[in-house]
Amino acid sequence: MISLNFEKLFDAAKQVRELAHVPYSKFKVGAAILTSNNKIIVGCNVENAAYPQTQCAEASAVGNMISQGETSITEAVIIGSGSLLCSPCGGCRQRLREFASLQTPIHMCNIDGHQKTLTLEELLPDSFGPENL
Ligand code: THU
Repeated sequence: MISLNFEKLFDAAKQVRELAHVPYSKFKVGAAILTSNNKIIVGCNVENAAYPQTQCAEASAVGNMISQGETSITEAVIIGSGSLLCSPCGGCRQRLREFASLQTPIHMCNIDGHQKTLTLEELLPDSFGPENL
C-alpha cells in the first residue's frame, strides 16, 4: 500500500538520485528515508575507481540519518535506473534492518514511479538484528 508520505519521499529520492556519482556503472540510485521524527533523509550512490569501495544509496542515506541524530526508519523509497526492479542489495537490506522494524515498508521505484512495496521482513526473512546480541 502506498502511504501518504510516499510522494514526498519519492520526490526527495528522485532529486538526490541526480547527484549520484556513477562514472563507472552509470546506474544512478537515490534513497529517501522517513524517520520516526518525521524527517526525510536522503542519499545517493557514490562509486569509486577502486570499484569495491562504492557506497550504495541506502548506505549513504543511513549514514546521513545517523549524522543528523536520527536512529529510527519508518519508511523508505529507493529509485534505481532502468525499468527493472531495483531492490536493495543484500548488504543494504541488513543496513536498513539495523534501524527499521520488520514491518517497515520499502518502496521500490524507477524514475517513472512506484513499482513494488515489500516489508523489510519480506526482503530479509529470519534476519539477524540488534536484539540478537
Ligand atoms: N546500488 C545501490 O546504490 N543500491 C542498491 O541497493 C543496489 C546497487 C548501486 C551501487 C552501484 O553504484 C550501482 O548501483 C550498480 O551496482
